[in-house]
Amino acid sequence: MNCVVVGAQWGDEGKGKLIDFLSKDADITVRYQGGNNAGHTIVVGDEKYVFHLIPSAILHRNKVCVIGNGVVVDPQALIAEFDELAAKGIHVTPRQLKISGLCHVVMPYHRVLDSLREAKRQNKIGTTGRGIGPCYADKVTRCGIRIIDLLNPRVFKAKLEDNLNEKNETYTKVFGYRDYKFDEIYNEYQRYAKRLAPYVTNTAVYLNQEIDKGKSVLFEGAQGTFLDIDFGTYPYVTSSNSIVGGVCTGTGVSPTKIDKAVAAVKAYTTRVGEGPFPTEFKKRMLEKIQSKGKEFGATTGRPRRCGWFDAVLVRYSTMINGISELAIMKLDVLDGLEKIKICVGYTYRGKTFDEFPMDSEVISKAKPVYIEMDGWSEPTAGIQKYGQLPANARKYIEKLEKLLKVRIRYVSTGSKRDHTIIRF
Ligand code: GDP
Ligand code: IMO
Ligand code: MG
Repeated sequence: MNCVVVGAQWGDEGKGKLIDFLSKDADITVRYQGGNNAGHTIVVGDEKYVFHLIPSAILHRNKVCVIGNGVVVDPQALIAEFDELAAKGIHVTPRQLKISGLCHVVMPYHRVLDSLREAKRQNKIGTTGRGIGPCYADKVTRCGIRIIDLLNPRVFKAKLEDNLNEKNETYTKVFGYRDYKFDEIYNEYQRYAKRLAPYVTNTAVYLNQEIDKGKSVLFEGAQGTFLDIDFGTYPYVTSSNSIVGGVCTGTGVSPTKIDKAVAAVKAYTTRVGEGPFPTEFKKRMLEKIQSKGKEFGATTGRPRRCGWFDAVLVRYSTMINGISELAIMKLDVLDGLEKIKICVGYTYRGKTFDEFPMDSEVISKAKPVYIEMDGWSEPTAGIQKYGQLPANARKYIEKLEKLLKVRIRYVSTGSKRDHTIIRF
């Protein structure tokens, strides 16, 4: 059984917790897009781990993790992640982690361009500043450097020389930024190449061979459907295909080998960075949910914007991703609210929309149409059996199921592994 986990909203839905939970039953877990803009949190006992590039299944020591070719790798960040894990007694071995040689590499000039561009823009995207957009842009304009290129000094030298010629000219002329020195970058990245070389694998071949042997693979999405470069709230998106479709190009595994897709969905909505957000809370509710849900970015620490559950958004997501099961995360954060709203449509200039609109003006100015449900006063935190949830919490879950027309298989009631309800 090969399964994809994606985020159905704007990221931070709790994918890390869900992957950690589901990867118990998978042999291999694979990241297929994004980079260290992602922050996936896993809580085991009293220990909290945040993964940026390493797949969230790495804590299961007898499983294999793969960084697929669709991921952009910042070697400095990856090595820092290795070192942080090592400090907690977890040594990531080449047997346990395989990295595609075809991954594009985040270079210092990508990180710098990310902030230079943001500083110049009037409509800022609010990126994570990790150089993700510029790295994917170089991949598409065919001047990217891949991990396999780092391992061949002649190829790396030629590519870096060409790139620095171009970057130095534009960075100094357009942004007044200093020149990059070839030797500094070349030597730094040769050191990274040495450290990463044992992990570099032809992961497309590896994955297909393992699948043919009957091994099961879990594909770990980063970001969320509305940050997808094609289907998200463009241009307030990330630079990769975070939807299920990204799995095939990001790993070399064909759609004929993917059996199902599960979406992680927060019981409400959050978003980090700029861009439209129709159900966004006003100050009082924002403060309440932000503090209860500890809604601060796992990568940048920025406060997350929060709002009511948007069924229009998630229904679109379940369609685009072909979702067969949903996991509703962070239900416990809604404990103690008198009333809970769900957005079931938008209105703009007298028109009603029950599908997610394409026009960015409509999305940013639309008024949500809400239904209202009674909340529950009893705590749900830590509950593991569906029947033990307060009746109104079950009504909320079942209402979402009706609106989304997809079964909700998992309900998460806390950040710990066992704070999870499996309904069927
Ligand atoms: P990801 O990017 O989708 O993996 O999500 P993040 O890790 O960025 O953000 C989710 C946050 O919610 C993390 O701090 C998790 O520990 C936490 N979390 C996950 N599930 C639950 C839950 O059911 N209840 C509560 N209260 N916290 C949760
Ligand atoms: P996980 O995997 C939430 C957002 C940024 C910004 C936009 C573009 O933890 O869910 P980028 O640096 O990618 O060019 O920024 O995307 N963003 C995320 N928001 N969770 C993430 O990842 C995100 N990765 C990027 O805040 O709005
Ligand atoms: Mg996150």
